[in-house]
Amino acid sequence: MNSKIKRIGVLTSGGDAPGMNPCIRAVARTALFNGCQVYGIRNGLEGLLRGNLGPLEPRDVGGIIQRGGTMLGTARSEEFRTEAGQATAVRVLTENAIDGLIVIGGDGSMRACRALDARGVQVIGIPGSIDNDMWGTNMAIGVDTALNTLCDAIDKLRDTASSHRRAFLIETMGRNCGYLAVMAGVIGGAEVVVIPEVQTTIAEVAAAVESAHQRGKTHSIIIVSEGAGIHTQELAAALDRLDVGFSTRVTILGHIQRGGRPSAFDRLLATRLGVKAVDALLAGQTDVMMGLRGRDIEAIPLGDVVSKQREANLEYYEMAKMLAF
Ligand code: F6P
Repeated sequence: MNSKIKRIGVLTSGGDAPGMNPCIRAVARTALFNGCQVYGIRNGLEGLLRGNLGPLEPRDVGGIIQRGGTMLGTARSEEFRTEAGQATAVRVLTENAIDGLIVIGGDGSMRACRALDARGVQVIGIPGSIDNDMWGTNMAIGVDTALNTLCDAIDKLRDTASSHRRAFLIETMGRNCGYLAVMAGVIGGAEVVVIPEVQTTIAEVAAAVESAHQRGKTHSIIIVSEGAGIHTQELAAALDRLDVGFSTRVTILGHIQRGGRPSAFDRLLATRLGVKAVDALLAGQTDVMMGLRGRDIEAIPLGDVVSKQREANLEYYEMAKMLAF
């Protein structure tokens, strides 16, 4: 490919997500295959500001396709949000002759890409976040693995819930987005799903759980998204107080949802996004995020990604509710 790009930098930023490693591998090997040099930037934008970077060769990204986390490390950077921080980032890139940058991360990372593009950096974003809250891609890297982890956890908790005739409240991650919780509700057969996008009262949850008990269910699975505005422990205490038929237990799954071997889907998605991101960079594109649209990987303007709101999955929310009958 005839491109002006000679050296590509790659970094992972924000919360890690399973599949970031296969994505780094795909970026590095595609770039090297096309005759570019590749620099791995360690610990996200923080590492970029500190000049914490070095060359990646084909063997450096070997043996990572199956590993969770990110071999490059990641961070959330306050300093990068400042004008001075962004100027430093551009200086470090220039000093290291990095003429194209690929950033794998969530919505905050995509905003960082925009800031760098505005300062003349040729930059491509790749969506990596278990939250699936980003506009412009059906799925981000890590979502599928997180859902598999949730599915496994819910199955196990249902076993014990059923044996003891209990209600289990299971708190999922997702920040302000109910995607993980809703999908976990569908695939885990939950009785109730509580998400930020749908206002739900404690009384409504109590009524649903009590009704499930009266319909002869031997357990109740209540999925609570972390951003839902109902405190999971308080909800459990209220259900006990209201005597809904089941006694309650709480499991907060937390960061376990961010770890683990990337699923086949995430490896494939990460690999496709990584390859296409390098292709886009070499073709001269900038200020775009590679996203999964239908079956295809497309370049989505970052302006749209950071300004548009992903719609809530209310169809699936209703589906979970109906199937709890
Ligand atoms: O964005 C991914 C995510 O795991 C969210 O679901 C969660 O709210 C947040 O990151 C937790 O961040 P940290 O790892 O910094 O505690």
